[in-house]
Amino acid sequence: MADAARKPSQPRTRVRKGHGQGVTKARPKAGKGPWYPAFIGSLFAVGASVVVLILVLVSRFGGDDPVPAVAAPTEQATATGTAPSGQPSATATAVPTGYARLLPCGDILAPLDKEHSLAPDCEPDDLEALPASISAEGTQSLRRETAAAIRKLFAAAESAGFHLYVNSSFRSYATQVELFDYWVRVNGLAYAERTSARAGHSEHQLGTTADVGFPGHFLEDFTGTAEADWLAANSWKHGFIISYPEGKEAVTGYAHESWHIRYVGVEVAAKVHKSGLTLREYLLQR
Ligand code: DAL
Ligand code: ZN
Repeated sequence: MADAARKPSQPRTRVRKGHGQGVTKARPKAGKGPWYPAFIGSLFAVGASVVVLILVLVSRFGGDDPVPAVAAPTEQATATGTAPSGQPSATATAVPTGYARLLPCGDILAPLDKEHSLAPDCEPDDLEALPASISAEGTQSLRRETAAAIRKLFAAAESAGFHLYVNSSFRSYATQVELFDYWVRVNGLAYAERTSARAGHSEHQLGTTADVGFPGHFLEDFTGTAEADWLAANSWKHGFIISYPEGKEAVTGYAHESWHIRYVGVEVAAKVHKSGLTLREYLLQR
């Protein structure tokens, strides 16, 4: 999780050395009287104070360390389980993208959140189109193992009398750029931050995440249905976790999404379910 975009630092010793050399040029000349060394000494002291002040200001505000002076809100949320400083979570989630930490491409357990992201060119190489019978809104694609798992999940739902569909699945970085911008235009930035990931930060880019619903009941309209209740109670048994559960916005950074499930494998899903943690908390503490 090293910050690959970090630029090489300007060595601070060079700054100090430069100032030191400048000072040595201002030596007193001989024959100016007894007051002269004291005067020059005072000048030197004032000059040194200014240099120290500048160094402090540069290291505090203008350094090359991209870590923000204030702890990233997501880090606080993880530690405390509450919104930082008691602020509404919509504000708490607005982490500048400049602080993103790139995660390796291809890890299905990557802890993607407001802080951690995937590179723009990160795309799975084993995407598989889902059958039309379970795809809404055109062709839907998921990674091979996830596609097999969701077919089993949906077969179990069918046995319980529910016919589920996928209406969003793998989304590229470019698609997520468009989507986030769309929500900003339609509902404003604060809403977009709560409901849509910025490009690079969406679990949909992993190819292991699907938005589930049934005709007439996608996204928010899915919440509160018997189908949604069934999904919440059973998806973990097939390796899926609801990433953004109800009442956990301060921890996940996103409003409740009853429809958004992410595949992590049956074993990990069982552990997450048992832990009572959100997926984000579980993956960050691994
Ligand atoms: N709606 C979720 C947060 C996403 O855009 O990935
Ligand atoms: Zn989703």
